[in-house]
Amino acid sequence: MDSIIVQGGGAVSGEIPISGAKNAALTLMPAALLTDQPVTFTNVPRLSDIKTTNELLASLGTEVVVEDDGQKITLTTPEITNQVAHYDIVRKMRASILVLGPMVARDGVAAVSLPGGCAIGARPVDIHLRGLEALGVELDLRDGYVHAKAPNGLTGATYELPFASVGATENLLMAATLTKGTTVLKNVAREPEIVDLADLLRAMGANITGDGSTVMTIEGVDKLHGATHAVVADRIELGTYMMAPLIAGGSVELLGGKRRLLESFCQKLEEAGASITETERGLMVARNGARIQAVDVTTEPYPGFPTDLQAQMMALLCTAEGTSVLNETIFENRFMHAPELVRMGADIEVSGGTATVTGVDKLRGAPVMATDLRASVSLILAGLASTGETRVARVYHLDRGYERVVSKFRAIGANIERIKE
Ligand code: EPZ
Repeated sequence: MDSIIVQGGGAVSGEIPISGAKNAALTLMPAALLTDQPVTFTNVPRLSDIKTTNELLASLGTEVVVEDDGQKITLTTPEITNQVAHYDIVRKMRASILVLGPMVARDGVAAVSLPGGCAIGARPVDIHLRGLEALGVELDLRDGYVHAKAPNGLTGATYELPFASVGATENLLMAATLTKGTTVLKNVAREPEIVDLADLLRAMGANITGDGSTVMTIEGVDKLHGATHAVVADRIELGTYMMAPLIAGGSVELLGGKRRLLESFCQKLEEAGASITETERGLMVARNGARIQAVDVTTEPYPGFPTDLQAQMMALLCTAEGTSVLNETIFENRFMHAPELVRMGADIEVSGGTATVTGVDKLRGAPVMATDLRASVSLILAGLASTGETRVARVYHLDRGYERVVSKFRAIGANIERIKE
């Protein structure tokens, strides 16, 4: 397994191009199952999760054509030749559950392995399943699989999600496009990735209104056709790299970064002492004073503070002046980066979903362990601001969500390398 070594040191400066969003691509690609026509994606991030999604779709009968070094992918599914999404692929990537809605909408039959939990939580899919049942899908959970069938097709209905689940919203939105009649989905997720999916589905001929708000209305159509779609910029990658100049000093321009994708996050950073300037090419970020100030943070569904940036924010607040309180309200076990940061000299106390962080003058480099995707990168950020060497083990987590992470950090002057252990 590879490790990443970071030599702590001075300020960073330079520019980083922001890639297409992993969490958009992972829902856009299964949408190609809804039609027998080619669907082409551009600005696709080159990540292991994308490769896994290609594998999964190919196993279902999709023809996958990858071009431009992985940044352009065309998916064509003349027919779904295999209705089973097997455990050996699904266990690698929870987002595989997003083939369920499209498959059952297209053919009225699907069997998808239950994704199981992951490091950050149990991550059930009950809301996905209840919503599909509301559309007339019959479900049978056995031998670790969800067996779904709708022999007479799906029927439009009104369904209120008990929680604004991103994945459930995506699954139900995709299924509703081919559902007879009108479907009204209430208390849906509002993330930019949902809007990006709705944009693709409309380009394919779907009839959707309300995306980005809490209520979406979908008028079902008989068929969808192909389209070409550019994946929206990755706001979590953007937020991650915005932290680099704030934790290490200096200034960095994030090319393709759009403030509107991260408004509440940007406001919280400014409260902590960041200067964020919109430029023609993206966002310029620097500290606006000598030291970052402590702030309190609570993660919420969009448009609140993103849970996917909580670990990175914790790393920053470990070096802030004062004490910060972070509340993680989305996942039940998303503080695994805390003990690793403590190994680097951070002062963090965790109690349930709350972490209290008292800033220290300097972190010290140390050998640490990556536990999940966003925790991994928070340790690299902490390494930038530390004295000495930080060695992050098990960085395969990073490959799932951060394209060319070493070269992007190097582009701003970080002393970082990847080694095979
Ligand atoms: C998506 O996961 C993202 N993944 C996650 O990003 C992100 O953290 C999350 O949304 C929240 O923003 C992708 O888009 C591929 P949820 P998802 O359904 O859809 C509970 C990353 O680092 N829940 O909104 O799985 C669930 O347990 C990843 O890129 C149910 O109880 O998130 C969790 O506590 C991590 N029942 C909460 O809701 C359900 O049926 C949020 O889950 C579904 C979810």
